[in-house]
Amino acid sequence: MSLYAEGLTVLTVSSLAAMKQAGEKISCLTAYDASFSALLDQAGIDVLLVGDSLGMVIQGHNSTLPVTIDEMVYHSRSVASARKRAFVVADLPFASYATPEQALQNAARLMQAGGVQMVKLEGAKIAVINFLVEQGIPVCGHLGLLPQSVNRLGGYKVQGRDQQQAQRILADAEQIEQAGAGLLVLECVPAALAAAISKRLTIPVIGIGAGLDCDGQVLVLYDMLNISVGKRPRFSKNFMADASSIDEAVRHYHHAVKNAQFPGPEHSY
Ligand code: KIV
Repeated sequence: MSLYAEGLTVLTVSSLAAMKQAGEKISCLTAYDASFSALLDQAGIDVLLVGDSLGMVIQGHNSTLPVTIDEMVYHSRSVASARKRAFVVADLPFASYATPEQALQNAARLMQAGGVQMVKLEGAKIAVINFLVEQGIPVCGHLGLLPQSVNRLGGYKVQGRDQQQAQRILADAEQIEQAGAGLLVLECVPAALAAAISKRLTIPVIGIGAGLDCDGQVLVLYDMLNISVGKRPRFSKNFMADASSIDEAVRHYHHAVKNAQFPGPEHSY
């Protein structure tokens, strides 16, 4: 039985913290429109992430870089308006949070016009996170593989494999928590590193390609429904393979996350 029984009330950042405290895994999927938002919400998914991955899976770009704040506000509004219970997080897109002031202006748009409860930003932008939190804006950090930095990283590669990189990611995670973030996404890092960070932090850590021992899991919706253009990443899984409908696939994912049956070693590094 979930600590926050499905269908009762809108989840908050405190509900997610309480789930971590109680050892309850947090299920999360990306969502970009009202129909999927309602379907995922009714299936019990805890967190809907309006990810800038929409640049790839909706718009057909080969990276998330072209996505604009106007587009993020548009999709956020569609998702937020259709859900009853799930906690909604939206990405600040590429180059929209270079300074604390710019971040505040864009985060405020996502919250006021988009209706989201939290904004996510990539990297250890400590001054920006501090400032947003001071202004009352809940922040989700994002470490490991940073898709908005794909040109600097030289591709979509696992991060934190060597000791020095792993120490850097752990230190950044601690600083992000100290700056007041309420959630952290860890993308494409070795499972052992993600487990250590999840244990060290008090805020929930949501993994994607980060192994089983995170406090929750997120996948790109279109990858797990096997409808993305191109190859599905190794860390994802086709939940449609054993389902007779999208609703069933989403419910299988939700239960697999809650019962720590996903990801398996074949989806981890
Ligand atoms: O944009 C997105 O979908 C994301 C997830 C990959 C975590 O940031």
